[in-house]
Amino acid sequence: MTGGTPAGAASLRAGGAERSALLRRLAVTTLDANWEHDHTVPSRTLYPHQWSWDSAFIAIGLAHVRPDRAWRELRTLFAAQWADGRVPHIVFNPSVRAGAYFPGPEFWDSGRAAGAPAGATSGIVQPPVHAPAAWLVHRRAPSEASVRALRWLYPRLVAQQRYLTGPRDVGGGGLACIVHPWESGLDNSPAWDEPMAAVPADAAVMRAYRRHDTAHADAAHRPTDLDYARYVAIVDAYRAGRYQDQGLPGRHPFLVECPLVNAALGAAEHALARIAGVVGADPGSHRERAARITEALVDRLYDPVTGTFHPRDLRTDRLVPARTVLGLMPLILPDLPAGQVRAVLAEACSPRFGLAARMDRPLPTYDRTAPDFEPLRYWRGPSWLNIGWLLWRGLRAHHRPDLAAGLRESMFELVARSGCHEYFHPDTGAGLGSPAFSWTAALLLDALAEG
Ligand code: SER
Repeated sequence: MTGGTPAGAASLRAGGAERSALLRRLAVTTLDANWEHDHTVPSRTLYPHQWSWDSAFIAIGLAHVRPDRAWRELRTLFAAQWADGRVPHIVFNPSVRAGAYFPGPEFWDSGRAAGAPAGATSGIVQPPVHAPAAWLVHRRAPSEASVRALRWLYPRLVAQQRYLTGPRDVGGGGLACIVHPWESGLDNSPAWDEPMAAVPADAAVMRAYRRHDTAHADAAHRPTDLDYARYVAIVDAYRAGRYQDQGLPGRHPFLVECPLVNAALGAAEHALARIAGVVGADPGSHRERAARITEALVDRLYDPVTGTFHPRDLRTDRLVPARTVLGLMPLILPDLPAGQVRAVLAEACSPRFGLAARMDRPLPTYDRTAPDFEPLRYWRGPSWLNIGWLLWRGLRAHHRPDLAAGLRESMFELVARSGCHEYFHPDTGAGLGSPAFSWTAALLLDALAEG
């Protein structure tokens, strides 16, 4: 029972304690099947290595059942941290067959970059959700071992923040800039259409490569070849400069401030303040940094006309107009000002995203009233558990238990209907992408435990 429609689907649909127990069992089975000696693969087929933000979400789930593995997961990831503090978005497992994933270690060629670790990694990052994850793992299962783990992680988490707020503050306004859509985690979100359109590329380039994702998932559910040609071109540009960040504005084709990455950046400072309290460091400096990030986020990415947050394209210095679920993510900041909280809640509860105390459809990743809404294609409409989970946490932080409960129930219904899929059809709830996806299982465990 590691994926697809779970066994006992009838009882899963029934609701109540029996459903919770079955969902929990399905989640644990999925996580166990994806455990790979010192980390968890997001999916055995589509993603056979270790991914950065996946590991953070996975650790949050593992804390409920196997806390030792939760810490191992984070330690393995941070053992691959670069000297400049960046945490790579993929840590390649050397025992996985060459060519099992595209783009693989030879494409990234991290070994030639200054400050890269001994093992092969990618050269880009993902949303920094690790400090909140470490805090949640400790809070769920506090022990001497968890305090030791926090002591080991704390300076590394601080270095991760320093990288993102230092070399990556390309715009100079106090926010981190992403240099690739993969860094947002929402690879082909309509949020990136405008900045991506400016990246010169030809889909025919992909004839020189072999994509593996489309061998394991329906091509109609994945980014297009033209998207991939651009992804490759952007990595080519960054790799040519050996992944260094000096002088990016003059030479790099994709430079964007993402609301999710920066909301995570601020949330990380709040978590670090708590961790600092446990490891004997100074919480005050983290709180100050958190306040500055929230202020910069509101100042640079909030649009009072649309009432939501948008990415800022640093190449044009304009906000990207698409209304995606990224715009709701600043709700994870406990110090988001009341005006923005109200506006984001109005956006979330509008027909665009349909958040409600009783949801009739799952939360989509893109404005479902937009003409280019695509219910099947990756981040262009489908529902994802990690995004639902982040919003659920944000709703609780901002005292909306009614909306949080509605969202939580809709997440349970998705998994009860379709299993621990990677993502889900935003109308029918049918499972899409990989059938046994780790973060779906992990975040389900967390949501089950915290009613
Ligand atoms: N999410 C990307 C993929 O689909 C890479 O991080 O492979």
